[in-house]
Amino acid sequence: MKQTKTLQLTMVLGMGLFMVACGGEGEGPIVAPPQAPAEWADKHMPAGWWTDPAKMEEGRKLYIGQTNPDVDCGSCHGKDGKPTKAGARDFRVGERMKLYSDSVWAWRIADGVPNTKMKGWKSKLSDEDVWKLVLFEASFGMPGKRWDAEKKSWVDAASASTAPAPVGK
Ligand code: HEC
Repeated sequence: MKQTKTLQLTMVLGMGLFMVACGGEGEGPIVAPPQAPAEWADKHMPAGWWTDPAKMEEGRKLYIGQTNPDVDCGSCHGKDGKPTKAGARDFRVGERMKLYSDSVWAWRIADGVPNTKMKGWKSKLSDEDVWKLVLFEASFGMPGKRWDAEKKSWVDAASASTAPAPVGK
């Protein structure tokens, strides 16, 4: 009887350790995000913003809650990009974030992620604010890069766009 209990306890403990080990990274395996819905699929960073330090700075101030204390992304994602709330996306992980197009990124900020602590922010942000936040957040994991809608990948921000200047709205 006693032995059975010890065995059960060992199994429960073992399972617990196994789960801790698998979930230990906090964010789980790197998988591509879902596709942006039609409303966002063709929207991209306004022309010229990827290389505009003023827009980047506006994005930073929004992100840390300086522009509007009700919009404080840094309170969960970390002012310096190191998440302070469990499960908040770590934008420093370029391997994951490079799978996000600028459209998907903006859509997630506007509409949030269902059933998570990441709520939608569109009631508090204009579309332009959303793009400034994409700009700043992307700089953690992919500094100096921009999304190329033609190539469907992140490329050097300074490189000329092959596509006609994208329209922001
Ligand atoms: C209350 C905490 C909290 C705040 C504040 C917050 N987030 Fe998040 N955010 C999260 C969590 C948790 C996730 C992970 C959701 C999931 O599991 O996919 C997340 C995920 C994200 C993602 C990735 C979504 C995806 O599909 O992987 C983006 C982009 C993002 N947040 C941007 C922002 C921006 C911009 C702000 C500020 C306007 C913000 N977050 C504010 C908690 C927060």
